[in-house]
Amino acid sequence: MKQLYKQSSLNNYKRDEENPLSSNSQYSPKTLKQPPRSLPRSLNYILKEQRLLFVLVGILIASTFFILQPILPRIATSESNYSTSTTITTFPSSIQNGFSNNDDNFHVSSSSMMNSYQSSTNFDLVGKTNRVPVGIGSKRLRIVVTGGAGFVGSHLVDKLLGRGDSVIVIDNFFTGRKENVMHHFGNPRFELIRHDVVEPILLEVDQIYHLACPASPVHYKFNPVKTIKTNVMGTLNMLGLAKRIGARFLLTSTSEVYGDPLEHPQKETYWGNVNPIGERSCYDEGKRTAETLTMDYHRGASVEVRIARIFNTYGPRMCIDDGRVVSNFVSQALRRQPLTVYGDGKQTRSFQYVSDLVNGLVALMEHDHVGPFNLGNPGEFTMLELAEVVKETIDSSATIEFKPNTADDPHMRKPDISKAKELLNWEPKVSLREGLPRMVTDFQKRVEEEGAKL
Ligand SMILES: NC(=O)c1ccc[n+]([C@@H]2O[C@H](COP(=O)([O-])OP(=O)(O)OC[C@H]3O[C@@H](n4cnc5c(N)ncnc54)[C@H](O)[C@@H]3O)[C@@H](O)[C@H]2O)c1
Repeated sequence: MKQLYKQSSLNNYKRDEENPLSSNSQYSPKTLKQPPRSLPRSLNYILKEQRLLFVLVGILIASTFFILQPILPRIATSESNYSTSTTITTFPSSIQNGFSNNDDNFHVSSSSMMNSYQSSTNFDLVGKTNRVPVGIGSKRLRIVVTGGAGFVGSHLVDKLLGRGDSVIVIDNFFTGRKENVMHHFGNPRFELIRHDVVEPILLEVDQIYHLACPASPVHYKFNPVKTIKTNVMGTLNMLGLAKRIGARFLLTSTSEVYGDPLEHPQKETYWGNVNPIGERSCYDEGKRTAETLTMDYHRGASVEVRIARIFNTYGPRMCIDDGRVVSNFVSQALRRQPLTVYGDGKQTRSFQYVSDLVNGLVALMEHDHVGPFNLGNPGEFTMLELAEVVKETIDSSATIEFKPNTADDPHMRKPDISKAKELLNWEPKVSLREGLPRMVTDFQKRVEEEGAKL
């Protein structure tokens, strides 16, 4: 204890000695002995009590952080098994379009553009992938679906949004319904534009699925000139857009391009048997012209195109009264009305469930083949056989009513899908007996809602 006291008083003494103004010392400027003034006071302060050491350690830690910071994302990326090339090759429209020339006569295909972009900036991007603004660094695609509020379009939109892409739907709601896409309204990756494709539109996207066109005879015959305009001017506008922004373009053509076929089943090489001046020509010839335009933009302007020839498709969200045979039979059976069969009912059709078609369209868009490709279910049914399946599924007591056949109604229709099987690795999976009940559930709900409104 004594020792401790001695030590502390000694320390006090020392401090007093250092401080010339201490109360114990007398102020005498002449006699005061100054400490050697070799270093300024501030430096003296830093050198004491290992302060300098702490400052140096701090500087070292900060520099290490700034040196390593750009390398850290690379380490993280390689650890999570993402190759850097994937990040770059799937760079979206924003970058792609930034490099596209707005002159309509100039075209660089998106893949070649991306390849040159990739090779010239590979090194820079590697370290910067996590630093680019939100939206530019995203690996997801931005896709336009024209006619996306319609039957097939809305299912395609579900699929594209489901896999994480951003989708812009363009639709004039002639046969489409907001109800078909309303479940996406809160989704920030979904946009809906009311627009008629016969008018030009400018958007920045990676892919264009061009579906806009009424598909059922009741609707396309309603205003045949408008149908032709939609097929010709609408397709021209969307091809022009694809060319301008370097987007890939997919046309949904139809089995109707084969007309009343003289070849059975129909292969893509068959040129068809179409009446150019009949009631259905606005649709059949309209789609044939759309195919011609698509191929000319491909050959003449290097636009990346895909052509799908769709055969009869059915499923939920079809227009109830669109006159197409499956929707007709189902709605009639649900309303307890006789099923209308046109002609003798021996004409054949093949029926494809909508999810199979959507998978085929996406496979076609993603593969490297232009087409055309038949997308349909080769299972062939006569109208009478279809009526029997509908009766089995909904109401076995339903009756059949025969009416005269409509003009130019094809006698048989069955796709040869060997090309799609081989090159796209695609074939339909859902049989009519599996698919029909799914459609009936949707129709039943809508028929009941309709009844409640009356
Ligand atoms: N469903 C089938 O069995 C079938 C068979 C062969 C081909 N196709 C083709 O597939 C596509 C989709 O057919 P669907 O069965 O969904 O038909 P749908 O009538 O349900 O859908 C067509 C959509 O396009 C829109 N539309 C029509 N004209 C437009 C215009 N000028 N501008 C903007 N939007 C317009 C409609 O409002 C609708 O939403 C069509 O191109 C059709 O020719 C369908």
